[in-house]
Amino acid sequence: MTERMLVGLGERSYQIWIGENTFPAIGSALDEVNFPNKVAIVTNPSIGELYCDQLIDALVLSGRQVSVIQVPDGEEYKTVATLESIYDVLIDRKFDRYCGLIALGGGVIGDITGFAAATFLRGIPFVQVPTSLLAQVDSSIGGKTGVNHPQGKNLIGAFYQPQHVHIDVNVLATLPQREYASGLAEVIKYGIISDREFFRWLEEHRDRLADRSAEALVHAVMRSCQIKANVVENDEKEQGLRILLNLGHTFGHAVETLAGYGVIKHGEAVSIGMVMAARTALRLDLCSIEDVDRIVALLTYFDLPVTPPDFSVADYLGVMQRDKKVKDGAVRLVLNHGIGSAELHQVKDLEKYLDELLT
Ligand code: NAD
Ligand code: GLY
Repeated sequence: MTERMLVGLGERSYQIWIGENTFPAIGSALDEVNFPNKVAIVTNPSIGELYCDQLIDALVLSGRQVSVIQVPDGEEYKTVATLESIYDVLIDRKFDRYCGLIALGGGVIGDITGFAAATFLRGIPFVQVPTSLLAQVDSSIGGKTGVNHPQGKNLIGAFYQPQHVHIDVNVLATLPQREYASGLAEVIKYGIISDREFFRWLEEHRDRLADRSAEALVHAVMRSCQIKANVVENDEKEQGLRILLNLGHTFGHAVETLAGYGVIKHGEAVSIGMVMAARTALRLDLCSIEDVDRIVALLTYFDLPVTPPDFSVADYLGVMQRDKKVKDGAVRLVLNHGIGSAELHQVKDLEKYLDELLT
């Protein structure tokens, strides 16, 4: 059965469909939103080889004229140059305002395709078909699109919502193990920031999730999407509540930066960051030791790292002070209140806490 849920954003509302073997239904989903007939699938060679034919067949059956645009695989290609190469093809193939784009891939493909759609001819419709776990539970929902700049990640972009998100958990069977575990870190994050019962469910079903049971994945992805959708509905442009999705990201970003981009995956850095946040919360009496231990145990079960790499307090502070949540010079951190809620805190004496966290 395919589950459906609404991301309610007024005239920018859209549905997320989640299930097993959902590709054959994509034509009906697109028909429901009057999606254009002339479409281009944007993907990379690895994902294209695995899933493009299935998607093309379903789209052609629904009467659509389909072409494919391939861009190279990897975060290093999430650039303005790749974006330009997409515009070049669209112009060559005479795409007009009545055409649409379909992002088939992980977060890199989704972000770049969304930004191409936001900007080509001042905006054409697009659909997300996320294939990594991170993209299914996070990046495909909420309309953050963009590319990197040599000076930093995601510095160029726009909020631009898709018309539909189409999730097939079966594609996760081919996702490399470290990518899969990284996605699970984001799933666990949702439990920590807003749903203690979901966290308990993840603990209870951890072996099925480790085995990538499709049934367990449908539930985990669906609950994660509900939580993300709820946050986005209440704070589309990240003025407040949406910041809570950054649990573990300030510490995690420091870990990623200090280790050198690509050495530690984003979800792995978030895993370490969530443990650092939980230990800081413990020191501030916001979280019990039992809850810290549960968080560490669940992340560790999925082979996610939980120990910060060995850099100095000054190194960590240096990166964290450049975080986008810094206000009036003070570092602000999302900290969990036990398991099931979180808030943004201005942390005084961060140096002291870091000193403890790193020893
Ligand atoms: P990714 O897109 O690089 O995908 C990871 C790897 O897995 C790639 O090599 C990809 O080709 C491969 N892959 C994806 N699906 C596969 C499948 N089903 N089978 C086999 N291989 C598969 O990385 P990601 O973790 O999906 O996304 C990271 C990106 O997402 C970053 O650029 C980050 O900035 C962005 N992001 C955006 C948001 C947002 O709200 N827009 C949120 C979080 C992250
Ligand atoms: N991944 C964080 C956000 O979408 O806001």
